[in-house]
Formats: sequence, C-alpha cells, structure tokens
Amino acid sequence: MDYKKIISAMTLEEKASLCSGRDFWRTKAVKSQKIPEIMVSDGPHGLRKCQNSEDHTGNFESVKAVCFPAACATAASFDRSLLTKMGKAIGTECQAEGVATILGPAVNIKRSPLCGRNFEYFSEDPLLATELSGAFIKGVQSRNVGTSIKHFAANNQETRRLTISAEADERTLREIYLAAFEGAVKNAKPWTVMCSYNRINGLHASENKTYLTDILRSEWGFDGVVMSDWGAVNDRVKGLAAGLDLEMPGSYGINDREIIEAVRSGSLSEKTLDHAVERILAWIDKYESKKQKDVKWDKEGDHELAGKIEEESAILLKNEGAVLPLDRNDTIAIIGKFAKSPRYQGGGSSHINSSKVTSFMDAAKGKGHELLYADGYELDREEPDRTLITKAVNAAKKSDVAVVFAGLPDIFESEGYDRSHMKLPENQNTLIEEILKVQPNVVVVLHNGSAVEMPWVKEVKGIFEMYLGGQNVGTAEYNLLFGKANPSGRLPETLPVKLSDNPSYLNFPGDRERVRYAEGVFVGYRYYDTKEMEVLFPFGHGLSYTTYKYSNLKVSKRKIKSTDNLTVSVDVTNIGRMAGKEVVQIYVSPPAGKVPRPVHELRGFEKVSLRAGETKTVTFEFTSRAFAYWDTEKHDWRVDPGEYVIEAGSSSRDIKYTKKITIDAAAKDAYIITENTCFGDLMEKPELEEALKPLICSYLHIDKKEKRKAGDLVNDKMTRELLRYSPLRGVISLGDGLYDHEKLARAIKELQSKV
Ligand code: BGC
Repeated sequence: MDYKKIISAMTLEEKASLCSGRDFWRTKAVKSQKIPEIMVSDGPHGLRKCQNSEDHTGNFESVKAVCFPAACATAASFDRSLLTKMGKAIGTECQAEGVATILGPAVNIKRSPLCGRNFEYFSEDPLLATELSGAFIKGVQSRNVGTSIKHFAANNQETRRLTISAEADERTLREIYLAAFEGAVKNAKPWTVMCSYNRINGLHASENKTYLTDILRSEWGFDGVVMSDWGAVNDRVKGLAAGLDLEMPGSYGINDREIIEAVRSGSLSEKTLDHAVERILAWIDKYESKKQKDVKWDKEGDHELAGKIEEESAILLKNEGAVLPLDRNDTIAIIGKFAKSPRYQGGGSSHINSSKVTSFMDAAKGKGHELLYADGYELDREEPDRTLITKAVNAAKKSDVAVVFAGLPDIFESEGYDRSHMKLPENQNTLIEEILKVQPNVVVVLHNGSAVEMPWVKEVKGIFEMYLGGQNVGTAEYNLLFGKANPSGRLPETLPVKLSDNPSYLNFPGDRERVRYAEGVFVGYRYYDTKEMEVLFPFGHGLSYTTYKYSNLKVSKRKIKSTDNLTVSVDVTNIGRMAGKEVVQIYVSPPAGKVPRPVHELRGFEKVSLRAGETKTVTFEFTSRAFAYWDTEKHDWRVDPGEYVIEAGSSSRDIKYTKKITIDAAAKDAYIITENTCFGDLMEKPELEEALKPLICSYLHIDKKEKRKAGDLVNDKMTRELLRYSPLRGVISLGDGLYDHEKLARAIKELQSKV
C-alpha cells in the first residue's frame, strides 16, 4: 500500500475521520480509498469481543472465549516462553474472530496493593513487567494480530483515574514507571500503545508530547499507532500535535471537526495530521494484508493451556511439615465456595465470557478421593455465618487435613475503583480461625487479584497463592495440591505484613487533584529490602516440592568499564526427588553513591526446568543498564564507578551467593558543569585542582598574592565541608567581586574542557 499516495488523495475530512473510532471497537472505513474498518477488543488475558458496539465496561455479553489467568498470576510464572504461548493462543482466537488488535498487555506498576486493577498488572518490578509483557506481545503478534501495551503511563490507581495528576520525579518515572514499558516497546515492538487517562505532572497523558513522541518514538523507536484509552482525550488538537494518533472510541465527529478547523486555521499543521493518518493506515494494512480466512481455534486446547499456565504460575507460599502434597488416601475437608465456583478473573473491561469453568471440585470428581465439602462462607456478605462455619468445622474435625478455598469476592476489587483495605472478608478469616481450633493441618488456597493480609499465617501449615487463575484454575489446583505438578510460581510483588507498611501508604490515592509518588524509586522490595523491614513473604519467593542447590556463581570479569557488558552464570541442581522448575534471580547491589539507591534491584531472571538430580548452568548477559540509574543532570542513564555486588538467589531475601565486581569510570563520562554545580563535586576530580583554585580563592576572599595558600585551605577539613555544597555561582554574590556571569562562564568552560 502506498500510504503517501493514498493520503494525498484523501480529503481533509477523510483524514480527520480516520483519527477516531466509528464506534467503541472499530476504526472508520475510508470508502473512496477502499480502506476497510478494523476491530479492536479487550484483553488482556483472553478475547473480549463485544457484540454490542457501545460496551466497554463488561456489562454486555461478549463472544465466548477462553479466560486465561490474569497478569497477576502469569507474572508469577517468571516464564517468558509461557507468556508467548498464551499470546499465540489469544492471537489465534483474535484471527478467528476477525479482531485486528487486542487491548493489552497492561504493564502498569503495582505501586500500592490497593489499586483496584492490580490483578491486570504484572508486578512491582519493571524488569519483570516489561520482559513478560514483551513475551506476550511477541506471541500475539506472531499470529499477525496487534497488541496495545497500556496504560502509558503512570496509571497506578483507579481513584480519579481520568483526572488525577501522577506527580513523580524524572528519575522515578524513568527507572520504575516508564521502564515497565521500555523493554517491551523496544524489543517486542507492539503495533500500538494505549495512552493512559491520568495526567503526568499536570499534563494529560493523551496530550503529553514528552511521553507520546519524545520518549516513545524518538528515544525508544516506536513506529506504531498511539491510541487513547477509552475517553482519555482532553484536547484533541493538542493530543494530535503531541503524538496521539487515534481517539477511541470517538466523539460523534466533534473532535474530528476540531482537527479540521485547526488545520484550516493553521493552528495544526496538516503534516502532523498526515503523519498520524500514515501510521493508522500502516496499522490497518499490517493486519489486513495478512488476514487469515477460516481460522479455527481450539476451545478445548486453549482451556487446557489456561490450566497449564496457571499450574506454572501458582505460588506455594508455605509448606510446613510437608503438609503438601496431599495424600490421596487421606480424608480431606474441602471448605469454601471458591472450591466449587472459583473467583478466577477480575471485573471491568477485561472480563471474559468464559467458554467453560473447571473448579477444584470438578477436577477432583471421579478420581476416588474422600472429600468432605462445606461452603464455609457466603460471598455476598462479610459477616460470619455460624451455621456454615459449624458445618465446616465438623467436616474439618472428621478429616486428616482441611483445605480452605478463600479469597476476595468480585466486589472487593475491580477496574474503576480502588480497595480501601487489604483484608480478606471477615467471614473467611473467622472461618480459618475456627477450623484451626479443631484441625492442625490446614491449607489455605487463595483466589485474589492483589496482596491480602494473612492474620493466620503462622498457624496454617500450607498456603497456595493462586491469584486469579483463569477458567481452568481447578485443574491446576487439583494437580498442585495432589503433587501431580510441582509448584514453580514466584511472587511478582512483595506481600507486606500490613497495608501501612507499603511505601505509598501516606500518598495513596492522593487528593482531588494529584497523587504524589513521594516514595520515589523505592517501590515494593526496593523499599522493604532497603529498610530491612519484616514482610509477610518477599518478592520472588515461592516453594517447590523439591529442593534446589546453587553453586559456581561466576562473572566474566572482575573489573569492567561503565560501558562494558558482563556475563554472569550460576549452576543450579535439583537435589530432590521430583522434577521441578526453579526461578534463578540475579540482583545487583550498587555502591553508595551520589543518589540514594535501592539496596538491590532485579536485573535478570530465568526459569529452568530440572529433572531430579539434574544440574544446569544458567547464564545472564548484562549491559551497562544493569548498573545504571537515571541521572537527572545528564537526562540519561549513568553508571557510577565503584564496587557492585552481583547476587544470585531465589527471592529478594534468599540470596545464595554473591560476587563483587569493580566498575571503573568510562574514559569519557559526560559531566556537565553549570553555575549550580557544587565546589565539592568538582574538588573530587584531581584534574580540576589548578583550574578551581582561582574560583576557590575568590569565593573564600583569599587575596591573589596568597593563592598558594588556597591549596592548604582546600585540604583543610572545615573549609572542604564549607565548600562542599556551595554552588559555583556563589563566587558572584559571596566572593570577593572578581567574578561576574561572563567571567564565571569562561571559568566553567575551562573546567568543562578538563573533565
Ligand atoms: C480501560 C482499558 C480498556 C478500554 C476498552 C478502558 O476503560 O482502561 O484498559 O482497554 O476501556 O474497554
């Protein structure tokens, strides 16, 4: 398709019309140019193809599809290939249903456990989020169906999500919130990006050129379409100029007319509009030119895959006295409604009309187990129901072990609002406490989209975190509980002991106007580990029915330059009797430096499958980015010289081995000196000693004749301290009058030439 030729043949009205949706799910056709409309659908953990053209809240029925585990669960797999497989299956369903692009993955960082949409998001850690979402994107797009990575950016709460301003500093945005998108955008090349509803430091994401053009396109090389979240457009013309190509769902022509008027009046260049149109045409063409006919998708196969993915994602948090796996000869009390009708997905735009649902009880049926079932609690009220509890307690008494299927009811968490607390409903906590009084062997199986407090954590023997496990969660539960599968999920977020431990606690969800990300880069384990706080379960934690041993941690070099790469390898052995999968995690701990940094950060992870007795060497390649932080003076990544510790472990709190490496300063490490650069920072550089002397003399009022003395003074501890945080511009107002701005500028130039 010759886009430029088509654009030159299109009228202004046609071009403007292509920049917004025909309805909730379709772009507009341009008949004169034979451009067809294409359809998008939610996502992200299954296909939600709406029959009704005006539904985006999940109220109307969509076509039947397979509901895969939500991102809260799949993130716990730490398994890129699994996410690619899931993406391929969803991509095939999209091809079969004529859907050009699926609206996901959603990669926003879990800043607070209260965000109502945490179930749709991957992690508190940007590397994990960006790697897994990238793998998903590759899977979907391998079926020639696009993705829309969302919600770009800093959309970390539901409260006032359409208007709130997320106020975060440049470094925090770069290292945490943008980094969650960056890797996936650069490596997996999503066809589209969906901008978020919120404002970022005051400006709507939908009209924010810094993000939509400067960072996304110019820096990261994104060449696809930016679409708005549904109704995120504030000022359409400003949005278009900032890089927002497509408004969704559209505004009944109102905003199209604004675009036309702006072009006519000259306030918007037609070239800008043409660029947006070209990108939209390229997107349509990408799908249409390779659209497949008569694609069939395998309902049963995808249902099985959903169960398999959940099996690889569920996390065994606790297994005291090897209470698990369950013994098939035991009498087992199965307590809780979620055992019969599990909560396996969240509410809102991601809600799938599931092709079928398999609960634990369905999966266990006909397999010859002695199971005593009791409801235990109601889902539509929170008060404990004594009759239900008594029945459950009786079942527990008669059994060898009690398994309680607990979790959050639908109403507790959904798109559109945030949670107000982190607790399970009272009736479930009471139920667990009552069962513990009569049964020492209690296992809790949790169904929830984000972290919950566990007041009974010390008393119960086993805990499985299933998260929201998709429509075949029951099969996964059955296989894991009875040891037909070995648990291998790891926590993609820290579970704090209580809500007030969370670093965003005092600044969530903000006031009517803004929410301050005052904790900066100290999100999740970056905070808890740096503060050495007690947590319920740490980031990366997860048990197995076998045991892994680490050995031979190696680094390719002990001394590198700040621009060099580093290879790290470690051996892992399965020393137990059951095959399993271990998630090897590499953290990097930086030296104390100029900016406060987390005690360590996840820089690599790999899931390895090991037969009993097998050893594998796991190798990681790190670029300088693994050691870098965002330098707000350079507006770029920076690696400080010093000693770094490479840590290999199986959670952020279970580091097995460490190796130290030294990083030398790069030969040419740009260092920008301004009037506001402090003397202390320059005095650390021996090459500047001579050039600094006149400035120091002037600042300290040392007579020219006494210049020699300046050297002694600089070595004097008190004077050094005094100078340390004084900016160079101080010579003008506080010095002896020898410097004005011009003279200082010359001095700075001389200093700059020497660094
Ligand atoms: C959500 C998006 C979703 C869109 C379309 C919005 O409210 O924030 O994630 O893709 O609706 O349903």
